[in-house]
Amino acid sequence: MKALILAGGKGTRLRPITYSMAKQLVPVANKPVLFYGLEAVAQAGIREVGMIVGETAAEIQAAVGDGSRWGLQVTYIPQPEPLGLAHAVLVAEPFLGETPFLMYLGDNIIKSSITPLVREFERDRPNALILLAEVPNPQEFGVAVVRGRRVVKLIEKPKEPPSPFALVGVYLFDHHIFEAARAIKPSWRNELEITDAIQYLIDHRYTVRWHTITGWWKDTGSLDALLEANRLVLEDLESCIEGEVVECQLHGRVAIGKGSRLTRCTIRGPAIIGQNCTLKECYIGPFTSIGDGVQLHACEVEYSIVLDGSRIEGIEPRIEHSLLGKNVLVSGKARRPRALRLMLGDSSSVELP
Ligand code: TTP
Repeated sequence: MKALILAGGKGTRLRPITYSMAKQLVPVANKPVLFYGLEAVAQAGIREVGMIVGETAAEIQAAVGDGSRWGLQVTYIPQPEPLGLAHAVLVAEPFLGETPFLMYLGDNIIKSSITPLVREFERDRPNALILLAEVPNPQEFGVAVVRGRRVVKLIEKPKEPPSPFALVGVYLFDHHIFEAARAIKPSWRNELEITDAIQYLIDHRYTVRWHTITGWWKDTGSLDALLEANRLVLEDLESCIEGEVVECQLHGRVAIGKGSRLTRCTIRGPAIIGQNCTLKECYIGPFTSIGDGVQLHACEVEYSIVLDGSRIEGIEPRIEHSLLGKNVLVSGKARRPRALRLMLGDSSSVELP
């Protein structure tokens, strides 16, 4: 069994962050999203990983290396253009050959283990096994209609969902998926869709089975989903204070990295603060992840992700539901005129009170 992790794509929904970084490397609870997938693959006992990469190949490669940190052997597979998940499968065909494989979307985080799914596939050897989760809003997902242990139909974002089962970004395939991916035509968005390839397998009497997960999973490709994933991961945070804390009030579970110094702050967990940060007279609210080397002074941050090297100072309204990239500066001035001075990249979005 091999694994194929998809870490290419365009990442349009996370612009402007994705102008300068791969969306799979955006940290959730201070760990890149992609690392959660690598851990899940390693835990399932798979060693050989093909990593689909696009424009951000160099950055992904620098972060993941040869995979030995997870006991994996990672081979990088460039996808010349992000032409869809089934296109990525075709690009990986020389690497995968006849070996069955687990396909994992590099921007997904799944709480429960994928190991039972892999074991079921190895035992029953269907042509495909897809992971489903029961959701309250199936109209926003690819939805599967099932009969007994078989999947009989897949529908992309149905207006009237025929079932509550949404497709999670984890799939197991044997080599027949290549025949399917070659046979299908690009969709309206000019992508070779994996749902169409799976539907081809169903229509051509191949066995497509399903497996459900009970815990949460998140596609972190949009701001709301990313912050929600951050919240869910932080729910399991354990307290760990390695930095220096002076005249502060810490409530709930809080992690503070080495070399960080907090003075006269209130931190309400779960919240994580990285290494070498300086925080003075600020409030950090629940479900907040602060990266390394961040400086915060006289500000309030809650339900947000702040990346490495950023600085926030003298801001009166609380910053919440926000994602700040690396080395961002947000500062307020108490003196008049209280005009706004902005330097915002393309696709930035700012909401003022
Ligand atoms: P998506 O989130 O579906 O696509 P995207 O990355 O293009 O994002 P957006 O919609 O915001 O523009 O992709 C799911 C995962 O698969 C993600 O990790 C990127 C990866 N991917 C590829 O590797 N190759 C592809 O051709 C596509 C479409 C996605």
